Amino acid sequence: MKRVTAILLGAGQRGADVYARYALSYPNELKMVGVAEPRKERREEFAALHQIPAENCVETWENILKRDKFADCVFVCTQDRMHFEPVVQALRKGYHVLCEKPMSYAREELLEMNRVANETGKVLSICHVLRYSPFFVKIRQLLDSGAIGQLVSIQHIESVGYWHMAHSFVRGNWRNSEETSPIILAKCCHDLDILNWLVGSKVKQVSSFGSLAHFNAAHQPDGAPERCMDGCEHRDTCPYYAPKFYLEHPKAITDGFARAVSIDISTEKILEALRTGPYGRCVYACDNNVADNQVVNLMYENGVTVSMTMCAFTEYCERIINLMGSYGQIRGNMEKNTIEVIEFITGNVNTIHLHVPAGGHSGSDISMMKEFVKLIASGGTTSKSGSDASVESHLTALAAEESRRNSGMPVYFE
Ligand SMILES: NC(=O)c1ccc[n+]([C@@H]2O[C@H](COP(=O)([O-])OP(=O)(O)OC[C@H]3O[C@@H](n4cnc5c(N)ncnc54)[C@H](O)[C@@H]3O)[C@@H](O)[C@H]2O)c1
Repeated sequence: MKRVTAILLGAGQRGADVYARYALSYPNELKMVGVAEPRKERREEFAALHQIPAENCVETWENILKRDKFADCVFVCTQDRMHFEPVVQALRKGYHVLCEKPMSYAREELLEMNRVANETGKVLSICHVLRYSPFFVKIRQLLDSGAIGQLVSIQHIESVGYWHMAHSFVRGNWRNSEETSPIILAKCCHDLDILNWLVGSKVKQVSSFGSLAHFNAAHQPDGAPERCMDGCEHRDTCPYYAPKFYLEHPKAITDGFARAVSIDISTEKILEALRTGPYGRCVYACDNNVADNQVVNLMYENGVTVSMTMCAFTEYCERIINLMGSYGQIRGNMEKNTIEVIEFITGNVNTIHLHVPAGGHSGSDISMMKEFVKLIASGGTTSKSGSDASVESHLTALAAEESRRNSGMPVYFE
């Protein structure tokens, strides 16, 4: 297989710590040849790891896309509102593009990105990693094989995890929809996308309710300071006390949350960052506005109905799904990688334990990279998570948010 070359735009958590890692694990398949990243520490660390020559390490995506094309593809891993311009410019320059979700928060931009991808004939693959997860791939195979007869309805729960919510959607990058996008797009476009894929039809009608029920000033305990480390007397009773999470919770290290606080994750550096940085703020005194709970009801053109719940207040960050068919039922937990298939006629329950590759999203991140690199190396043009399908799920998310803001008024697709 031809070795694919790639340039990374945005050497942050996803770009550097997840996708580009594939090049280190599979150097015969992928080589990173350029990087654009304004944070010097991150850029230099990335350049050294991937042995990128100095002339190909720049501060901004604009500077790298100004140059003549010098790789097969570009990974657009900048923040949410910084995807549209680099994607369109990279496609026009002749690059294939791997773009982080959400593609954009704006309908016009979504449609334009897809239009340019189709016009240029280049691959625009969106990081809807769940489409590559062994868990959802298995469920889709079961549905296609008729294991539960006619699919009638799906119940899907996206449990965010109280600690993940506090890190990303209260204190962190995705806390305010004016700066990024509503949580139903930022977090749940994955879920809406996978639901569309499983149902295999287009959404006809959407309605949604939800709110920011807890992470607001009304719930700030008496006397709590603006920052946890400014002598908060609730430190032993508040589950959101920042030093406890970043220094003690296992996920803080395994899932990279501590590294988002400080690239040096020694106790001293973490505490220093919490004293002054965004992740040390009291969760009840942040400039957050995204919902911490939201339900979405979907009606599809083929008659299938779906109810989806996103909620912050769960122990784990996990996805649980229940698919109900005319002849059987499928129950699954993605993080546990288990699927139960129930057959009504016999009463048999077949429990499947999946063995998945290590890594994020229950093996999905690495599976996605493998398929993307293979697609580019083989000169293929059709991505399993191409922009045509992704636009649909993004528009569903925007419709859900519109409904939520209008007290649950249904939104109809033409
Ligand atoms: N697919 C998934 O499951 C998944 C999961 C988490 C996040 N995301 C998405 O991935 C994207 C990146 O998230 P992240 O957590 O890696 O964020 P991050 O902040 O860690 O990384 C973004 C990087 O872009 C850099 N940047 C800023 N301006 C730039 C410019 N002009 N040119 C080049 N780089 C620039 C920043 O310095 C930063 O290092 C976001 O859109 C996010 O929503 C996707």
